[in-house]
Formats: sequence, structure tokens, C-alpha cells
Amino acid sequence: MSTLLEVEDLRVSYGKIEAVKGISFSVEAGQVVTLIGTNGAGKTTTLRTLSGLLKPTSGKIIFDGKPLTGVAAHKIVALGLAHSPEGRHIFPRLTIAENLQLGAFLRNDKAGIEKDIQRAYDLFPILGERRKQAAGTLSGGEQQMLAMGRALMSQPKLLMLDEPSMGLSPIMMQKIMATISELKSQGTTILLVEQNAQAALSLADQGHVMEVGSIVVSGTGQDLLHDESVRKAYLGED
Ligand SMILES: Nc1ncnc2c1ncn2[C@@H]1O[C@H](COP(=O)(O)OP(=O)(O)O)[C@@H](O)[C@H]1O
Ligand SMILES: [Mg+2]
Repeated sequence: MSTLLEVEDLRVSYGKIEAVKGISFSVEAGQVVTLIGTNGAGKTTTLRTLSGLLKPTSGKIIFDGKPLTGVAAHKIVALGLAHSPEGRHIFPRLTIAENLQLGAFLRNDKAGIEKDIQRAYDLFPILGERRKQAAGTLSGGEQQMLAMGRALMSQPKLLMLDEPSMGLSPIMMQKIMATISELKSQGTTILLVEQNAQAALSLADQGHVMEVGSIVVSGTGQDLLHDESVRKAYLGED
């Protein structure tokens, strides 16, 4: 296995408040790695820092052999790191097809882009059926699919998903999780942030539990699913 992402002792602050307090973890190529933890644990801050949207106060980020600290966000996308943000942030007035096109903003291989748009429609048939509709007309779950499809349009080496199941019905949540499994089986490397610990750990190779800015437990998805403290705190058992 080769290491695609290595995060070492990463610290991130908002003013005087340190939101990420020296976390370390890595992602091997082909793996699904999940960061779980309750609201405010620092998961989104971590992903936004990896994407170059926030500047760390210290620590190392090595992606595909290259240091990412100080690299501009669009260059990080070009290096192969894509981010489907919390809350989706699709463009509601643009069509579904246009939203997908925007995900390819750094590419100019027209034929390849068309092929990848088709791939997004294969993965999420509803997006293909509604390709000419304004994205704002989609349901929450469908918008999540669009956000994932858009992130895939940059042909990422690593796909980061921030809370893809947030606010979705159980059925829609299952659909999204099944798609993540499918992407994994196609070889996509994924860093998955979730509050739904059960769903995330069930499909993850590695998991890390974050609490107030620190990683407090790490292990394989299966280990964490069976870990008593994790079960009590995150899987609703007592
Ligand atoms: N823009 C911001 N300005 C100040 N504090 C923030 C900002 N965004 C997040 N925080 C704080 O940083 C901490 C981590 O937040 P966040 O990374 O969003 O956690 P999570 O994604 O795990 O819910 C929280 O205490 C949160 O209130
Ligand atoms: Mg968050």
C-alpha cells in the first residue's frame, strides 16, 4: 500500500480558539478512512485545512508525496484532492449539468469531461434524468449526490466528503452510503467525515474518533464498531 495523505501534528485555530489540537493520521491509497465525532469536534476544520481554505498554525500535510501547507486551494484541487463540503453548496440556479461542469473547472479535455459527466449520471441516474433542471429543485439527498458528483469531476486521487448523510431520510442515507461503497470498490480513496458513526465505521478501513480537537481513539472500522467506549459514546448504547 502507498500512503496518499499524511497528516502530522496538525493544529488549526480561529483567532485564539484552537479547533484542531495536534492531530495525526494517514490515508492509504484505495482506503476509506473516516473521522467521526460529535458537533464541534473539529472535523470540518480539518477538511477545510486539507483543502487549503484554512491555514494551519503548525503541523505537516503531505499529499501524494508533496507538502500542502501554503499551497492555494485551486492548486490543491489540481493536485488531486477534492472536497464535497458540509451543507453541499451546490449552485441552485444553475442546472445539474452546469453544476457538474463547474467541478471540472481546471480541466480542458472536453471529451474526458463529457465522459465523467456520464459517469456521474451512471452513478446517480436521477441526476441524468434531471440534467437540465435547476439544481435548487433537487431534494436534499439528490443535492448531496450532485455535490459528490461535482467533486468527482476533478478526477481526484482523494475524495473528501463532509457529512454526506446530514439531514437525510434513512432511505436516502442508505443510498448515499451504498454509493460510497461503490466508489470504494471502484478504487476511489475517500476521507469521510460523519456524525453517523455506525454507517461510517461499517464501510471504513480505518476510523478516528475526534473529541474537542483531538483524536482520542483510532482503529479499523470493525475495531471501533466493537469498541465499548465508542459504542457507548457514539452508537447510542449504554
Ligand atoms: N468560522 C469559525 N470561527 C470561529 N470558530 C469556529 C469557526 N468554525 C468552527 N469553529 C469552532 O471550531 C470548533 C470545531 O468546529 P468544526 O470543525 O466545524 O467541528 P465539526 O465539523 O466536527 O462539527 C468548534 O468549536 C466551532 O465552534
Ligand atoms: Mg462539521
